[in-house]
Amino acid sequence: MADTLTITDNRTGKSYEIDVTDETVRGLDLRQIKVEEDDFGLMVYDPGYTNTASCRSAITYIDGEAGVLQHRGYPIEELCEKSSYLEVAYLLVFGELPTGPQLERWVYDVTHHTFVHEDMKAFYRGFRHDAHPMGILLAGVGAMSTFYPDGKQIEDEEERYMAAIRLIAKMPTLAAFSYRHSLGLPYVYPDNDLGYAANFLAMMRRMTEIKYAPDERLAKALDVLFILHADHEQNCSTAAVRAVGSSQVDPYSAVAAGVAALYGPLHGGANEAVLRMLRRIEKVENVPDFLEGVKSREEKLMGFGHRVYKNYDPRARIIKKHVDEVLALTGDNPLLDIATELEKRALEDEYFTSRRLYPNVDYYSGLIYEALGIPSEMFTVIFAIPRTSGWIAQWMEMHGDSEQRIARPRQIYTGERDRTYVDVADREGPEKITGPPARRPVRARRGA
Ligand code: CMC
Repeated sequence: MADTLTITDNRTGKSYEIDVTDETVRGLDLRQIKVEEDDFGLMVYDPGYTNTASCRSAITYIDGEAGVLQHRGYPIEELCEKSSYLEVAYLLVFGELPTGPQLERWVYDVTHHTFVHEDMKAFYRGFRHDAHPMGILLAGVGAMSTFYPDGKQIEDEEERYMAAIRLIAKMPTLAAFSYRHSLGLPYVYPDNDLGYAANFLAMMRRMTEIKYAPDERLAKALDVLFILHADHEQNCSTAAVRAVGSSQVDPYSAVAAGVAALYGPLHGGANEAVLRMLRRIEKVENVPDFLEGVKSREEKLMGFGHRVYKNYDPRARIIKKHVDEVLALTGDNPLLDIATELEKRALEDEYFTSRRLYPNVDYYSGLIYEALGIPSEMFTVIFAIPRTSGWIAQWMEMHGDSEQRIARPRQIYTGERDRTYVDVADREGPEKITGPPARRPVRARRGA
């Protein structure tokens, strides 16, 4: 039997046969369904794209029901155990695990592009001392398009490769500079003798030491976190990179859109929100009250729930194992007790189980970052570092996909039409507006 779907339009009694491929129908095939010949045709209404495939992709496979995550066919558990982050980045971008010489070349290229243009520092200095490092990073990545204008040649394979290398290589430098700026500390240049994660830690931490080498076990834990955050198919920020990239803008600008999307508390900002939540709960005894607040919808249990995983997020499972290892090196954190109790009680509670709400990747990652001495404003910034390889891999895949067109959704228009224009003097409304302006200028509020 052919893979088709027969749709009967009860408005007209007409039937239509529509192809089904990969358990999917094409949205445009529905446009033939009309009542009148000059109708626009049937559309699909799907806010938040909850059931809309926007592309074909061979990068990341997720089975949300079973809690499975694979990159290019390799289970995330195995990659975390056996690979380095840069190896996984190569896998995402090129589709295969690198051979020894390929890996050597890739690591060399990334390592030798970690420096940013000196003018970038002048650009960073323009930010207020208390600017959020994610806001600074967002601007820094956007500014890269002006430092590397050749990135606009998106048809040039060499330029695409250079953009991938530069973005992956410079993201930790920009991220660490953002952090140092927010503390008023001098920027620390990359150290090419260190690995990717260790170099990032050194750029964050180094003070007067001639050479700074972070504890290898901590650098390894961070590298695993990088692997876990490298890609996650069509999440909000990746969808943003693809949508913005579909206009054929340069990859730096497209990735800046990804950074902006990641900034939001429902996406990459969640791990920062988890720590704030745990601090607000304050002690284990307050957990039941907090959960009541969540159930009465006064609160949200940050780090729980996922659009795709309706089971334990496999990334959360791996992170959980590493929390204990890291805390054994850095010392206990009382917030872990609160997090453990909160998870235990939530997983026993019908409110959460019936909605299939389980811990996601961000539930425990903040605790590791905190143990590494990284302040919470940096958590989302650190998420952006490894996700860059996913963004660039997805951007490259989109670029090579002949079916992709500029992203341009439809809408259902709900506003008025064909109104008669009224001159300002004749419009109805109060004679005078009293009271203060709705918003005072930000500068005045902060007293600067
Ligand atoms: N706490 C309490 N209730 C929740 C939560 C939560 N964290 N998440 C979902 N729910 C409830 C929600 O109120 C709804 O209940 P009802 O059907 O009674 O109205 C039901 O569960 C379904 O939720 P939804 O909002 O329709 O789910 P969604 O797929 O639109 O949202 C989510 C997914 C991740 C935005 C959401 O679960 C959430 O806000 N979680 C907290 C933020 C968070 O941890 N985000 C990190 C996501 S993982 C990292 C990443 O990929 O960026």
